[in-house]
Amino acid sequence: MKDSSHGVIRLLTRLRDARLVWDVMGSLYNQRIYPLIAGLYESIAEELVLPDRARILEAGAGRGYLSLLLASRHPDARFTGIDFSRMQVCRAERYRRQRKIFNCSFQQSNVLRLPFPEAVFDAAVSVGSIKHWSDPHRGLTELRRVIKPGGCLMIAETDREAPDDVLRQFVKRFPIPLVPEGLLFWGLRHVVFGQSLSEDELADATGRAGFHPVERRPVPTCPYVMVKAWK
Ligand SMILES: C[S@@+](CC[C@H](N)C(=O)[O-])C[C@H]1O[C@@H](n2cnc3c(N)ncnc32)[C@H](O)[C@@H]1O
Repeated sequence: MKDSSHGVIRLLTRLRDARLVWDVMGSLYNQRIYPLIAGLYESIAEELVLPDRARILEAGAGRGYLSLLLASRHPDARFTGIDFSRMQVCRAERYRRQRKIFNCSFQQSNVLRLPFPEAVFDAAVSVGSIKHWSDPHRGLTELRRVIKPGGCLMIAETDREAPDDVLRQFVKRFPIPLVPEGLLFWGLRHVVFGQSLSEDELADATGRAGFHPVERRPVPTCPYVMVKAWK
């Protein structure tokens, strides 16, 4: 690939990770992605076993689909979704009110500096957010700090090693008005998935942050990787 393409990819990746971009463009992402990765939220919901009256944190909650799905399944548990974009938090709060779910709340916070004391959550979850963190190790270490001993983390991310044909199928289900399919494929291939993590990288990063054991989970419904790990 030419040097100029590398420069464009670097620039677009920085935009991809900018809080302001999530404030402005978050609703476009939120509307389009949910149906494509609903199966992933569902597999997290099926696998998450919680003690009575558990407290759960979601990092980079976006519009809050996962927290609200989990909150509706676990009425005696309390969910907190954080996101560094104020507008994403507003969208999540609006969606929560529409769905009349009261055991969940959303607040603005950066996963790199969580405003919670140590060991207060029974579990933490995160989908599609870690690739945006400026310091993933610090974010994972913060998550470990706020999880209770024995508590678990489930974290999923776009698969950097997803094959082209799988991504082409994904693009077909992800139309954006006025954006040609070829351009969308290029963006997903090089900027979204291409600058993400492989399964090995996600598992290694989780282990390096002190989680043990770290187990890999298959994601049959979309080109994501997922690990489940314990403090
Ligand atoms: C790809 S979206 C995923 C949203 C949601 N988890 C979902 O499944 O729809 C990534 C989210 O991570 C948030 N984010 C990125 N960096 C963050 C950080 N350092 N701290 C907290 N949230 C962050 C973004 O604002 C965005 O809402």
